[in-house]
Amino acid sequence: MSFKVSNALKTVRGRRGVDPALREYENRFGAAEDDARARDAIDGKRLHDIYYDLVTDFYEYGWGRSFHFAPRVPGESFKASLARHERNLADALDLRPGMVAADFGCGVGGPMLEIAQHSGAKIIGINSNGYQIEHARTFAEQAGLAHLTEFLHCDFLYVDAPDNSFDAAYDVEAMCHAPDKVSVYAEVFRVLKPGSRFAGYEYIMTDRYNPDDQHHVRVKEDIQLSGALLVIDCPETIDEALRTVGFEVLETRDLAVQSGPSVPWYQPLDGSGISFASFRSSRVGRVITTATLRAMEGLRLAPKGTVRVSETLNLCADAMIEAGRMGIFSPMYFVHARKPG
Ligand SMILES: C[S@@+](CC[C@H](N)C(=O)[O-])C[C@H]1O[C@@H](n2cnc3c(N)ncnc32)[C@H](O)[C@@H]1O
Repeated sequence: MSFKVSNALKTVRGRRGVDPALREYENRFGAAEDDARARDAIDGKRLHDIYYDLVTDFYEYGWGRSFHFAPRVPGESFKASLARHERNLADALDLRPGMVAADFGCGVGGPMLEIAQHSGAKIIGINSNGYQIEHARTFAEQAGLAHLTEFLHCDFLYVDAPDNSFDAAYDVEAMCHAPDKVSVYAEVFRVLKPGSRFAGYEYIMTDRYNPDDQHHVRVKEDIQLSGALLVIDCPETIDEALRTVGFEVLETRDLAVQSGPSVPWYQPLDGSGISFASFRSSRVGRVITTATLRAMEGLRLAPKGTVRVSETLNLCADAMIEAGRMGIFSPMYFVHARKPG
């Protein structure tokens, strides 16, 4: 089980080394955190590129091919909830055969493959991380969906496509990595055809977040450092950014606030009532993985730094659970907007 992670991380070691890459990530993030000017000057694409080189194998191992959370109804499997959350975006955008949609920050392609399969639309995955694109291409071929998928290896702030190119665009928990929402939404607006729509799931700090509460602040900072998030916006900032770049806002809503019975979005990280599918991401699963990797790193079967990457992701998971319990953070602020035609 953990052999898969450590073997895969050897690929990263082959390129630049796990330990130096992790140190570079921490230095860059620390500099950006301490100094607003450094944050403005930071090459965000590079920061996220290093981060995803380090964590992609862990995500695939612990979570699967869709790197996001999902609202879940009692009795629904973890995997089914992820797929439903993805299909809901396709349905909101009325994706159909013949349409071409852009997936901003496509990861290893889990959502785009589900959406292509469900809608018949062609999906162009935009991603700054080449390692993830390699995986996504392979998964698309394995799923027999290569004809409905293409990839653009570029920064989503500077998409390698002309103005008015796409019939629709979406993001699944990816624009949380943008330094600010106005820049990335402006790029979505530029590449969308007039009259077409954008939908996404964004990270937010809810109105329960209190910046004067040291515990809230600490939890937020832990999520940011361990998740490579330079900012986490409040809903008002996101709504305002959509309008600022010219979108007509059709709907925005925090899907973590469910009217009926639901399973908390952070439950797969927590482990209460875990299913086999989410065992690896649960507390117990994570402890076992880290202990195994520690032994392997000691025996030099895993590259130096592997355990620290695993611990960084555990910090992220624990902070997310705590933030979810307190209701101060949500990874599923649904946005739906239209470029005027
Ligand atoms: C949390 S993952 C979500 C991936 C995918 N949407 C999913 O749900 O499986 C965030 C994604 O955003 C991508 N990303 C982050 N910053 C980016 C940037 N500046 N340009 C393009 N992609 C970026 C990462 O490489 C990663 O694939």
